Amino acid sequence: MDTTQIFLKNKEEEQDFLPLQGTDYIEFYVGNAKQAAHFYKTAFGFQSLAYAGPETGVKDKVSYVIRQNKITFVLTTPLRTDNEIADHIYKHGDGVKVIALKVDDATSAWKETTSRGAQSYLEPKVMEDETGEVIMSGIHIYDDSVHLFVERKNYTGLFMPGFVKWDSRYNPTSTGLLFVDHCVGNVGWNQMNKWVKFYEDVMGFKNILSFDDKDISTEYSALMSKVMSNNNGYVKFPINEPAEGKRKSQVEEYLDFYKGAGVQHIAIATSNIIETVTMLEQRGVEFLKIPPSYYETVLDRVGKIDEDLMPLSKLGILIDKDDEGYLLQIFTKPIEDRPTLFFEIIQRKGAKSFGKGNFKALFEAIEREQEARGNL
Ligand code: FE2
Repeated sequence: MDTTQIFLKNKEEEQDFLPLQGTDYIEFYVGNAKQAAHFYKTAFGFQSLAYAGPETGVKDKVSYVIRQNKITFVLTTPLRTDNEIADHIYKHGDGVKVIALKVDDATSAWKETTSRGAQSYLEPKVMEDETGEVIMSGIHIYDDSVHLFVERKNYTGLFMPGFVKWDSRYNPTSTGLLFVDHCVGNVGWNQMNKWVKFYEDVMGFKNILSFDDKDISTEYSALMSKVMSNNNGYVKFPINEPAEGKRKSQVEEYLDFYKGAGVQHIAIATSNIIETVTMLEQRGVEFLKIPPSYYETVLDRVGKIDEDLMPLSKLGILIDKDDEGYLLQIFTKPIEDRPTLFFEIIQRKGAKSFGKGNFKALFEAIEREQEARGNL
């Protein structure tokens, strides 16, 4: 390596002190992991992957690991009260605890972020079994949520030391869900910029898009949002905060029921949204309903698209465009009884944005649900 190369390499490292290879897994703390795993397999088409619990020497909790293409979910439930997981569920209901990020060096990730002000959740920890080692570290983010940094370059095992293969006779087919596109966090009143600065300062992210309450307000409820992205764009975290409207913001409803800040939705990419959503619907996943009038004018706004409008309108799939292309997206209703976490299914056809042109139709659909719950 000559001096120019060294300079370039140093420059690169200086610019990205936290290189991320994407989302490693998402861990949910849930009241009944056995049933939750069944739900995600049945409804969303995940496959059984790994298991840890009393049979594997873990005495206080059970975790089921499920996977579909590049998406890995861990569903964890406590076996007793008086522990952090049970407290988390009592306070928040079922929800996301961990957004784990894939890194090349978990020790460096921890040092770089904690030295920039992150509060440590887990000091770098080496876990080994006969197939190698995984190094993990972690930091706190908003409220009780955390990021774990997972280094698995010296590991060939199924998921992680401590887990055994989960063989199941029940293996519903995939619904074509491919990878996590983005994860949105809802934070409290006037907290958005604090968390934007956290992702900038502590994790080296950039604010790539902003929406103020004029972009995102309907007659009643409003929110503000800024999209944070890491250097290579593999990891994107929009951050929402409630804004003053005539009535209660959807973010405020979330905060009331989640009892604090947390993950609002996980957007999952597919390469054929019509097929994916058709299968999800058949398996009982409930989506927000969009009025037929949306489809009367949508093509005037987005121009020509490859898909037929008929199946899109039948399923309630939304369309938006930006300078680089268009996208198709749809949102589930909350997937637990508290109106908190939901999923987005997204197919990008060039567009790198988040569906700003759909905010009005989408938020009116959310308001109809809020109204039905008596929370508007
Ligand atoms: Fe989204």
